[in-house]
Amino acid sequence: MRLRNIPGADEYLAKSAYMVQEPESVRGKWHNRFGKAVNGLELEIGCGKGRFITEKAGNDPDLGFVGIEQYSSVLYRRLKKLENEELPNLLFVRMNADRLAEVFGEGEADRLYLNFSDPWPKDRHAKRRLTSRVYLDIYNRILAPGGVIEFKTDNENLFDFTLGELEPAGWKALEVCRNLYADPEALKGNVQTEYEEKFTLLNCPIYKCVIGRA
Ligand SMILES: C[S@@+](CC[C@H](N)C(=O)[O-])C[C@H]1O[C@@H](n2cnc3c(N)ncnc32)[C@H](O)[C@@H]1O
Repeated sequence: MRLRNIPGADEYLAKSAYMVQEPESVRGKWHNRFGKAVNGLELEIGCGKGRFITEKAGNDPDLGFVGIEQYSSVLYRRLKKLENEELPNLLFVRMNADRLAEVFGEGEADRLYLNFSDPWPKDRHAKRRLTSRVYLDIYNRILAPGGVIEFKTDNENLFDFTLGELEPAGWKALEVCRNLYADPEALKGNVQTEYEEKFTLLNCPIYKCVIGRA
């Protein structure tokens, strides 16, 4: 999701208390970076406009949540909405996910969310997919023992590609669901993302898997 450039967005992000400006300096210390004590750390990688991670933070005030997004214009929308809200357990970082291991320490995160990641349909771009083994190796470094990755998508090809990447990268699927909204058990506690709303309104099946180390 790349929105039209918004004049002043970078300056706005630079002043927001929700934004972490030099995230490398927080590496290994994220639990103490929030406005309150937290018991765990969960990240959404490619959070877009941030509806999901904001709702998660509101639902679970004892955990710390960080939304990772590469574009300022997208984050700007969320930060404007958060102006009159106080969520001390929520932070955002503007960065490319390929630098995650420079920003989060070994085993520092307890859970990662990948929601409606860009599919990069051309074979020659497969390494850019956020569920390619290149990224799975990065997640392996920052995820705590027993930590899991939750992945949702509307894209069947990306879903099947992801399942095929797991074993070679040392992961396995703990749960696989090919139609989330037809499975009341899998849907329990589900928090909808912006893209998820769009695709469910179009009656597209939503694919979900929970991934853990093999
Ligand atoms: C299709 S949108 C989905 C947004 C949101 N997760 C949702 O479900 O509504 C994917 C988002 O991931 C971001 N993204 C893609 N690749 C990224 C990367 N390598 N690092 C950081 N963000 C990335 C894009 O900028 C975009 O905002």
